[in-house]
Amino acid sequence: MHMLDRRRAAAPAWELCACPMEPLLTALKAAAEPTRLRLLALCTQGEWTVSDLTQILGQSQPRVSRHLKLLGDAGLVVRQREGTWVWYRVADDGAIAEVARALVALLPAGDPDLALDRERLSAIRRSRAAAASAYFRDNAARWDQLRGLHVPEREVEDALAALLPDRRIGDLLDIGTGTGRMLVRFGLRAARATGVDLSREMLAVARAKLAEAGLRHCHVRHGDMYQLPFHTASFDLALLYQVLHYAEAPAEVVREAARVLRPTGRLLVVDFAPHDRDELRTEHAHRRLGFADAEVVGWCRAAGLECSTVVHLPGTPLTVTIWPADRADAEHRPAVAAATDPAAEPAEPPGPDPGPDPAPTPAPSPAARVAADPTEAQPIRGVL
Ligand SMILES: C[S@@+](CC[C@H](N)C(=O)[O-])C[C@H]1O[C@@H](n2cnc3c(N)ncnc32)[C@H](O)[C@@H]1O
Repeated sequence: MHMLDRRRAAAPAWELCACPMEPLLTALKAAAEPTRLRLLALCTQGEWTVSDLTQILGQSQPRVSRHLKLLGDAGLVVRQREGTWVWYRVADDGAIAEVARALVALLPAGDPDLALDRERLSAIRRSRAAAASAYFRDNAARWDQLRGLHVPEREVEDALAALLPDRRIGDLLDIGTGTGRMLVRFGLRAARATGVDLSREMLAVARAKLAEAGLRHCHVRHGDMYQLPFHTASFDLALLYQVLHYAEAPAEVVREAARVLRPTGRLLVVDFAPHDRDELRTEHAHRRLGFADAEVVGWCRAAGLECSTVVHLPGTPLTVTIWPADRADAEHRPAVAAATDPAAEPAEPPGPDPGPDPAPTPAPSPAARVAADPTEAQPIRGVL
């Protein structure tokens, strides 16, 4: 049940809102105009640029910008700059966000202006989805080629899921989110999820995917993994999923990811074990041909993170490795302890041609999963 509905059921009407009087009045004044109410309704349906909103409302850009400014000043909508673009969406949380959603819920269902807005909004969504699938289509061949070299993504994601904290994740950050696949896969486990990427094309695909999946608490924004656009200690979980091999300075990326983690936070790095597929440099712009365990564990340590276990998922020919790392000051580590120190010795790179994919080992018991040594020459399938 929506928070407001719960209160409505439990309390007399004059106790409905948790918002203090002054900001409430400012918000109500800001919303009390037909165009601004329409804008508020649109901003609850995703993230939009001024030009999207201008197109939908059929009003001039300066006029729409002025209305958005008033809504923003009242805290009803959030403004997010991305290069020369600015995105608007309804406030994420807090009392004013609740007011915004409550006002939108009161709008008359049959209003013709609102109906037209919804129609035009759907058209913009459709054209974004078409652009996103065109981008996919243009890149699909290259991506499939890469995918064929390692274990199925589903297997990696399942191993990753086993390393997420048992408790519900508060704030999740997906660094180098690409098309937002991790946000779609794990967003529902988080109170809020944010993806960051340098590529606007990727972000366009991610936005379309999040809208399609109805994940309104998941957002993406343009940003550089070396200088994340967030305050220190803002996230409970950060992911670097197949991103580090693009980095000129991976240690700095890990340090920056550690910076934005809360004291009980966890970083999950997913990337390749060392390999010799040179063509990945030329055809896929990989900067690094995989990473040894000790290397990643060392960067984590230097960034104040403890990496107590490593997961290897051998593929043909690429092994995918997961390095979970907790803030060293974390009081309550999730229960994925390992019996070994992965920094003790670098992992052996897999040979150039390890042969066919080994037959899958039967699923280990939970007890067996924590006993394997990630530094063994033979990669281990499954979660340690
Ligand atoms: C192989 S994709 C992985 C995407 C996603 N993590 C996944 O696995 O589906 C790597 C992503 O890293 C992004 N990237 C590369 N350098 C970056 C940087 N300096 N800052 C932010 N993102 C970056 C690329 O744009 C790309 O979307």
